[in-house]
Amino acid sequence: MNKVRIGIVGLGRLGFIHAKNISSIIKNAELSAACSLNKEELSRAKKELNVGYCFSDFKEMINDSDLNAIVIVSPSANHCEQAIYALQKGLHVFCEKPLGITLQECLAVEEAVAANANQVFMLGFMRRYDPSYMYAKQKIDEGVLGKPILFRSYSVDPESAIDGALKYVEHSAGQFLDMAIHDIDLARWMLKAEPKSIFAIGGCYAHKEFAEHGDGDNVSALLQFDNESMAFFLAGRTATHGYNVETEIIGTKATLRIGSVPRKNMVEILDSHGVRQECSQSFQERFEVAFVNEMQEFVDCIIENKKPEIKAEDGTKSTNIAYLATKSFKENKLIKI
Ligand SMILES: NC(=O)c1ccc[n+]([C@@H]2O[C@H](COP(=O)([O-])OP(=O)(O)OC[C@H]3O[C@@H](n4cnc5c(N)ncnc54)[C@H](O)[C@@H]3O)[C@@H](O)[C@H]2O)c1
Repeated sequence: MNKVRIGIVGLGRLGFIHAKNISSIIKNAELSAACSLNKEELSRAKKELNVGYCFSDFKEMINDSDLNAIVIVSPSANHCEQAIYALQKGLHVFCEKPLGITLQECLAVEEAVAANANQVFMLGFMRRYDPSYMYAKQKIDEGVLGKPILFRSYSVDPESAIDGALKYVEHSAGQFLDMAIHDIDLARWMLKAEPKSIFAIGGCYAHKEFAEHGDGDNVSALLQFDNESMAFFLAGRTATHGYNVETEIIGTKATLRIGSVPRKNMVEILDSHGVRQECSQSFQERFEVAFVNEMQEFVDCIIENKKPEIKAEDGTKSTNIAYLATKSFKENKLIKI
């Protein structure tokens, strides 16, 4: 295959970015079809990205377009059903995180992936394709860290995006599944270990509306992994300075920090306020390169007939940990895994 014909489902905040990357940056790929429930998004995709075929029904897109692969960027509750349908129709599948919102539906995807072993299945844990996280992982694999002691990772959305977060909360499946899932995946990837206990707490510190959905505007979890290392996650929606993603891994020989100040770039501004650096303001901005890298990897895997590092099983495990964190938060109890 020289060129992978891709159909995308979901053209919202992230879907349009993936669609644009596929149609303009990703090598050996073309955006053949798009599906959304929103007519304006579809006409924008037709006009700006020159998408050939537009659909409002996912199954129609799969059955009526001549596709090799599907990219799923619909709401999290739709991922598993759509992934299974596409796999059974013989398509390669890229699915956004989280894989699913229940353990059962994730396991059903694993089964469909196993039953269609010649097709590529990849999950959108894009931080694994961010140059800084990749470099840190390389250093850990080289043994720079020594024995890992603590993995600490924060994912906090900007307060300026709170209106969107409040509209989205009903469908987000909660902060652990929606936000901390990235930190959970990073911890498993970098520590090469699985958690054995978890305790989560949190609350509504600025926006009580989250409580109506059994969520907090900021939540955190403390975990112990089976290699005895500890992990601490914070997921929130109230960073006044911007989009705050930072990670620290403390080991017996070194400490690695990624993005401990969520700076926009290397520029320092010296003015009447003093010396300052601007912060990145959104996931789109912070992970712009990672979104391109991961999609290129998906297409390369299809063309070169190889399998991506991120497997469906990683999706199941991270969903399960996020689910147990949510349970611990809601029931205020320590959970042994
Ligand atoms: N990797 C990341 O950092 C990251 C960032 C943002 C979102 N996401 C994930 O991407 C997914 C989408 O998030 P978003 O913020 O772009 O959502 P969004 O609400 O902005 O867009 C959702 C899109 O899905 C479409 N849609 C909804 N139901 C559909 C259905 N039944 N059939 C076909 N299309 C349907 C909508 O029309 C819309 O185009 C979520 O699962 C989210 O977790 C990942």
